Amino acid sequence: MLSRAVRNNSLRAFSRRERNNSRNNSWKDVRCCFSSIHELDPNQMQITNIASPSQFEFKPSMLFGERYSDHLLSADWVRSEGWGAPRIEPFDNLSIHPAASSLHYGVQCFDGLKVYRGKHDDKLRMFRPIDHAKRFAHSAARMTMPAIPPEVLVELMERFIRHDKRFVPNDPDCSMYLRPTMIGTTAKLGVSPPESVKFFTIANPCGAYFQKGLRPMALLADPTYVRAWEGSAGGAKVGPNYGPVMLPQQLAHQKGFTQPMWLYPTKDGDYQITECGTLNLFVLWKKPGSSNEVELVTAPVSDLILPGINRLSVVELVKQDAAILSETYGKITLVERPVLMSEFCAALEKGDVFEFFGTGTASNVVSVDKMHFNGKDYQIPVDPSDPNAGAGPLALRLRTLMTEIQNGTRANHEWAPVIET
Ligand SMILES: Cc1ncc(COP(=O)(O)O)c(C=O)c1O
Repeated sequence: MLSRAVRNNSLRAFSRRERNNSRNNSWKDVRCCFSSIHELDPNQMQITNIASPSQFEFKPSMLFGERYSDHLLSADWVRSEGWGAPRIEPFDNLSIHPAASSLHYGVQCFDGLKVYRGKHDDKLRMFRPIDHAKRFAHSAARMTMPAIPPEVLVELMERFIRHDKRFVPNDPDCSMYLRPTMIGTTAKLGVSPPESVKFFTIANPCGAYFQKGLRPMALLADPTYVRAWEGSAGGAKVGPNYGPVMLPQQLAHQKGFTQPMWLYPTKDGDYQITECGTLNLFVLWKKPGSSNEVELVTAPVSDLILPGINRLSVVELVKQDAAILSETYGKITLVERPVLMSEFCAALEKGDVFEFFGTGTASNVVSVDKMHFNGKDYQIPVDPSDPNAGAGPLALRLRTLMTEIQNGTRANHEWAPVIET
C-alpha cells in the first residue's frame, strides 16, 4: 500500500493534471490514481439471475426513471484490497451504513448514457461509451474515489446490456438509459477520502424525451443562483452539483420557464453564459463586428462547464462536416469561447442571433425560443421560415445527424460501436 503522504502527493498531482486536462478539453490518461491491489476485471463477472423475470412490454409513453431492467451491475472497492469481482444480480435496494460518506458529504459521482436498438438492423449500440467512461473516471477522481479504467467500464456495461437486452426499446426514438454511479460507503463521519466505495449501474428503458413533439425551451436567466465557479467541481458529474440546482429549477418552472440559464458573474458586472439546466449551450450568430461571417460559439470546457458528450459531438460535427451543415447558413466557423450576456443581448436586439440551442443526453439538441433576463423578455429566432418549427434549421440538422448515428442509420459510425450479443 502507498503511504498516506505518497498517496496525497499523487492525488494532488492527479488533480493538477486533471485541471489542465479539463482546461484543454482532453480526458486522456485518466487512470486509477490509487494502488489497487485487485483491478476490476470484467472476466470475473459473477451472475445471479432474478428468480422470476418481470413482465416487460415497452411503451413509448414510459417516462425517464419510471421503469428499470431486472438486474443491477455492481462491484465493491476497499482501499486496502482493491476491487472485488463485478456482479450482475437481481435489481434490489442497496443496504448502506447510515454514516456512509455518500449520504452525508455527497461523496458520489455518476454518468448517463443511452443504448439504442438499430432502426434497420436491430443491433444494440451505446453512444460514445468510451467518452462517457473517461468522464466517469474524471468525476470519480475529483471525489477521491478510484477511477475505473474507461475500457473496463465499457466492457462491464456491454456485458450488462447483453444480459438485460430485452429491455432495450425497439423504437428508434426511444432508448435504454444507463446510469453508472459510484458512492462512498465508508462508515466514518470524519470528512476524509472514502476507504470503500460501491460502483453500480442501473438501466432505465424510457420513451422519447419529447412525448408531444419537439418544442423549443424558454430560459430564465437569473443571476441569483450560480451553478459552478472557478475552482468548483462544475466540470465533473458529481451529485453535489445537482442537489443545489433543484431550487432555482423549481422557481424557473413555477414562473413558466423550461429551465434556468446559468450565468457566471465577471469582475466588471457582466455575466458569462455557461449552461442551462443540464444542457450545454450554443449560439449561432453573425460574428460580432463582422459583415456576414457566421459563427457557432460555445463556452470552452472549464470548472464552469460540464464537458458534455453531445457538446463534444456538435463541436466535432461542425468542425469535420461543415459542408453538411452549410445548407441554410453557408460556411459556419466553430468557436470555443465564453459569450457575455451583454454581447448576447446586444446581438439579439440587433437581430444578429440566428439560433440558440442546448445539447444533452436526455434531449439531444434543443432550440431556445425565449429568454428572460434583468426584467426583460427576449424572443429568440427558431426558424424564420416556419413559425411553428420545433427547432431551428441547424439544431434540427445536428439532431438528425446524431439520431442517425445513434440508431445505426449511419452504419458503422465510430461513435456508436455495435455491442455483439
Ligand atoms: C450540468 C450538465 N451540463 C451539460 C450536460 C450535457 O452533457 P451530455 O451531453 O454528456 O449529456 C449535462 C448532462 O449530463 C449536465 O448534467
